[in-house]
Amino acid sequence: MRHEKQVETLNKLLALREQGRDEEMLGEVVHIPVRNYTDPDIFEREMATAFSDYPMIAGHASSVREPGSYLLSDWDRFPYVVVRDRDGTLRAFLNVCRHRGARLVSGEEDRLKAFVCPYHGWAYGLDGSLRSVPKSYAFPGLDRCKYSLQELPVTERMGLVWVHPTSGATIDLDSHLGAIGDDIEHFAIGDLVRYCKTSVTRNANWKLLLKTYLEGYHVPHLHRTTLAANFKKGVIAHYEHGPHIRMAAARTNILDVLDVAPESWRILDYASVYYLLFPNAFFIMHPDYVSINAFYPVAPDRTIWTHEMLYRESQFQGERGQAALAKRFKFTNDVVFDQEDFAIAERVQEGLRYGPNEYHTLGTEEGLIGIFQQSIDSLIYPERAYQSARG
Ligand code: FES
Ligand SMILES: [Fe+2]
Repeated sequence: MRHEKQVETLNKLLALREQGRDEEMLGEVVHIPVRNYTDPDIFEREMATAFSDYPMIAGHASSVREPGSYLLSDWDRFPYVVVRDRDGTLRAFLNVCRHRGARLVSGEEDRLKAFVCPYHGWAYGLDGSLRSVPKSYAFPGLDRCKYSLQELPVTERMGLVWVHPTSGATIDLDSHLGAIGDDIEHFAIGDLVRYCKTSVTRNANWKLLLKTYLEGYHVPHLHRTTLAANFKKGVIAHYEHGPHIRMAAARTNILDVLDVAPESWRILDYASVYYLLFPNAFFIMHPDYVSINAFYPVAPDRTIWTHEMLYRESQFQGERGQAALAKRFKFTNDVVFDQEDFAIAERVQEGLRYGPNEYHTLGTEEGLIGIFQQSIDSLIYPERAYQSARG
């Protein structure tokens, strides 16, 4: 985030704090039908749009620096492998054998020399070309050129690897992310190193999980013994580019910024900054580490949640540094997200079956949830003349 934007956002947060309320979101109470979290038809429409038409984050670029190093998808529905080939080119393929469809790479090797199928041994180069077929006499006339691995669009930007789920699509991150991409570029994620990545299946719709991040209304209640002390009188300012959202939440110490000259303001000292990168990624920025959460739908009521934590090596050195990092990860991942946010989202999902709510009613300070839902609705109901409640 450029310095001028940090100053602008902090000034906005100070003004909002004076008024004691979040920045205007949708400006009205919104009702979201709960079938958005249960209906298989809505689920399939989301898969055919939000999860087919947007580039997705495969992981930190440091994982694929050396030839043969690779990243695997966390999601069976879109099983890609991203690999650095021998020439140094980054490539992405569907991790599916062209013979009879077995999964080629399972993550057991550190580095790949080739893709060798575990089923019947067809072997492909790191460029995806079919190189050898055991007992090739049994396939007379096989045109190997037609059996290369299915290639996918991939690119490296902002220290991250981006892959597009649709073969032949183009990835244009500048227009896709706009000013939000510029913001993220300035956090220099490429200079961080990977601490760990976890992957857990949760029994809730992917949007219910993601939406726990999109409002601060719950913080004094659900997080009363954990995060609440950091966000007393917290207010939220936001910015949108297309379906992507940046949120900044004032921390309890925000008034301390007034003792410092604006040239020295650093937003992360006084506010937390978050990015929803549509459709399914949520970034949480800290001064010395970044959490990237992603949500991969498995069924209307089941989702794979991944959490990749990246950190600045100079801030966490030696055994003590690593112990501090482990403590932070445990607190954020195991306590705040797992035991508080996502545990309650699972109970909400369960309650949809029996509960009295045909709609969820969102107050004006939960408006970002409505904005996110509108982005989804505009994709899954293209036939409707979509009217934004934002006027
Ligand atoms: S399915 Fe891969 S070699 Fe047969
Ligand atoms: Fe929360």
